[in-house]
Amino acid sequence: MDAIDGPAVIKLSEQDAIAGLALSTEAHWNQTEEDWRIFLRDGVVFGIRDGARLVATAALLPYSGNNAWISMVLVTESHRRRGLATRLVDACLEAARKDGLTCWLDATPDGARVYGPLGFTPTSQLRRLKLVKSRSVSGQAPSTATLDALCDRDRRATGLDRTALLSAFAQRPGSRIVTANGAIALVRDGRAARHIGPLFADHTTAALALVGAIAASETSPLLIDAVASQSQFLDGLTASGWTIERPFQRMRLGRATAMAEEMPFAVAGPEFG
Ligand SMILES: CC(C)(COP(=O)(O)OP(=O)(O)OC[C@H]1O[C@@H](n2cnc3c(N)ncnc32)[C@H](O)[C@@H]1OP(=O)(O)O)[C@@H](O)C(=O)NCCC(=O)NCCS
Repeated sequence: MDAIDGPAVIKLSEQDAIAGLALSTEAHWNQTEEDWRIFLRDGVVFGIRDGARLVATAALLPYSGNNAWISMVLVTESHRRRGLATRLVDACLEAARKDGLTCWLDATPDGARVYGPLGFTPTSQLRRLKLVKSRSVSGQAPSTATLDALCDRDRRATGLDRTALLSAFAQRPGSRIVTANGAIALVRDGRAARHIGPLFADHTTAALALVGAIAASETSPLLIDAVASQSQFLDGLTASGWTIERPFQRMRLGRATAMAEEMPFAVAGPEFG
């Protein structure tokens, strides 16, 4: 099918959260219905239907300082290689261009093949790691920290004000913000595993110690999206039983706007940056 002749690109609403979740679940992603509601409520989500069925999506989530995150680029298996992802990302880029936004995303290897030709260039690399846990708690939970402390640290590390996003995460049942030795992290529920991130620390030892304390106090499988250039952190995680599941390539289209003062150890997730 020619990309130009395809079915209409439409704007989705909060009523499409469950249909969006079906697409991310088909791709074995970890998003929850609540995650979809963030994109549908605070951003713009484009979709393509085949009859009544939602078969493809892409989301644009605006952040501060003329930046936006593109994510949830999903096409159901039977409808791939027909140009649907390209059309939906184009729709996001068109919306971003109107508002003069620089676009960022974290691409899976398949996604990077779509975004490169659209003009995105690689910036940094991430690695998703998983820890399969025994169902018993083996240590005390780390101390809790405030949302303000997490938002301050996030602003220093990303150059973005993501208070709205982080507060939405923090308010969910099961979310906790934890701290030890100057390191701080958010832990929240996902569809299939609990997610650690973002995680900030002054040094690798503190970052690893905090992950270790979180793991000891959790009973579910855990995921973390680690910044690949924090190589000692990655080595420490794999040495303590975490396995690398997949790489993500961070990419940008537009001029660099956000000035970061420190490097995070783990991000909030590829869908949020
Ligand atoms: C990645 C994904 C969104 C691509 O959707 P799609 O609608 O098939 O993509 P398009 O048809 O627009 O592809 C455009 C071009 O990208 C490249 N491309 C896309 N998927 C590819 C693949 N699996 N292998 C090689 N090239 C690929 C091709 O050059 C393709 O053009 P062509 O078909 O004319 O050769 C889809 O495979 C998917 O949902 N995968 C699972 C979830 C995922 O990884 N999403 C990306 C998140 S960053």
